[in-house]
Amino acid sequence: MDEIKITLKEKDIPKQWYNLAADLPTPLLPPLGPDGKPIGPEMLAPVFPMNLIEQEVSTERWIDIPEEILDLLYRWRPSPLRRAVYLERYLDTPAKIYFKDESVSPPGSHKPNTAVAQAWYNKQFGIERLTTETGAGQWGSALAFACKLVGLECKVFMVRISFDQKPFRKLMMQTWGANCVGSPSDETNAGRKVLAEMPDTPGSLGIAISEAIEQAVTDSSGKTRYSLGSVLNHVLLHQTVIGLEAKKQLKMIGIDKPDIIIGCAGGGSNFAGLSFPFVADKINGADITIVPVEPTACPTMTRAPFVYDFGDTACTTPLLAMHSLGHAFIPPPIHAGGLRYHGMAPLICQGIVEGLLEPRAYHQIESYEAAVTWARTEGFIPAPETSQALAAVVDEAKKAKEEGKEKVILFNYSGHGLMDLTGYDAYLSGKLIEYELPEEELQKYLADLEKLPKAEMRKSGKW
Ligand SMILES: Cc1ncc(COP(=O)(O)O)c(C=O)c1O
Repeated sequence: MDEIKITLKEKDIPKQWYNLAADLPTPLLPPLGPDGKPIGPEMLAPVFPMNLIEQEVSTERWIDIPEEILDLLYRWRPSPLRRAVYLERYLDTPAKIYFKDESVSPPGSHKPNTAVAQAWYNKQFGIERLTTETGAGQWGSALAFACKLVGLECKVFMVRISFDQKPFRKLMMQTWGANCVGSPSDETNAGRKVLAEMPDTPGSLGIAISEAIEQAVTDSSGKTRYSLGSVLNHVLLHQTVIGLEAKKQLKMIGIDKPDIIIGCAGGGSNFAGLSFPFVADKINGADITIVPVEPTACPTMTRAPFVYDFGDTACTTPLLAMHSLGHAFIPPPIHAGGLRYHGMAPLICQGIVEGLLEPRAYHQIESYEAAVTWARTEGFIPAPETSQALAAVVDEAKKAKEEGKEKVILFNYSGHGLMDLTGYDAYLSGKLIEYELPEEELQKYLADLEKLPKAEMRKSGKW
C-alpha cells in the first residue's frame, strides 16, 4: 500500500503566512469609500482592529505567525494530507487524488485557521467582544470556539434558513459560550428594515453582515469589533497554512507539484488557503490548473461581472472590486449555505481576471452524488460545500481515465458534513431540487450596480 496519510510534526508547522498580493502580476484595485475615492486604513478602524487592517493592506510576501497563535493552532494542525485511494479504485482512475483534511479541527472545517488568528489580534488590541455573521454555521462556530480560547465575547447573526435547518450548529456555538440569533433579527436597524419588507425571507449573508457590522460600530464603549470569515485579504492570508503544509507533505512523498488543484469557493478562503502558495508557483512558470468551484445557484465567478460592489446588503462596507451577483442578491435555499454569498474575494477575482484561475460551477444534485460516492468509498461524510469541490474532483479523475494520464489532483476537504445531514436527507429521499439562477433574476440584481463606480479589468496577458 502506498502512503495514504502524510503527516507533519508540530515543529513543521509553517511559521509565516503567504501573501499573494506581493506576487500578483497586476495589483488589486483599491477598496473605495462612499465618495468613490480609495479608502485609507483609518476608515476601517471602527470595524476592525488596526493590527488586522495592517495585514489587510500589506503587500509583504511573508508575514510571521505569532508563537501564541501557533500554540492555538496546534490543537489540530498540521492537518493530514490524505490520499483518496478508495475513491481512486472505485473510479478506476490512474489519477492520484490527494486532499488536505481540514475537517479535523474542533468545529469541523478550515474556518478556525483564521478565527483563532482574528480573535488573538483583537484581544491584543484591547477588544472585548466580536460580532459576526454565519451562513452554514461553520464560521459562527469557529469564531465562537476561537473567542472562548482567547477570552472574548462572541455574538453571531446566523442566516435564517440555516438557523432553522441546522439547530445543532447553534448549540455548538452556545457550548463555546457564544450568543447566536437568526438573521434578519429585530436587534438591528438593518434587520428590522428587511423584516418589514420581507417578513418571510430566508435571509442572506449580505443581510447578516449588515447586522453584525451595525452592532459592532454602534457599541459606544469602542470595545466591539466585527470579524469576517472569508473574502478579505487578511482572512485568505491566515488560511495559507493549508497550502504551505500541503507543499511540504507532497515533497515528502516525492511530488514536486500537483497537476490540478480544486477547492469550493463561497467567499474564497479555503480555496485560497490551499491554492495561493501554488498560484505563486504558477506565476513563476509552473504548469498547474487551479479551479475554484461554486454552485450553479450562486454563480458569482462563472456568470457575474467584475464590478465594484458592496460586501453587504445595507451598503455599509467599502466598495470592493470583485465578481458580484449584486449586494441585494437573495440566493436560492441550496444546502451549501457557505457558498451562497453574492461576492468573491478580490484576490481570487483578480486571479480570475488574470487567467490564473479557472472557475467552474456545479449543480447541487451532482455535488451530492459525488458526496455520497465519497461517503460510500472513503467513508467520511463531507460538508455540502466540500461536495461541490468533490464534483469537480470526480470529473477530473474520470477525465484522467479517458486520457490515460496519471495526474495528481489536490483538493481541499474543507469540512465534514455531520451537522448538515438535512441536505443528505433531501438527496436520499429524492427531494433535492436543482437550481440554476435565471438570467432575468441576475440582471435584476445587477441593475442596482449601474450607479456604482466601474471596475477596470487589468491583466498582464500572460495566462
Ligand atoms: C465546510 C465549508 N467549506 C467551504 C465554505 C466556503 O467558504 P470559503 O469560500 O470562505 O472557504 C464554508 C463556508 O461556510 C464551509 O463551511
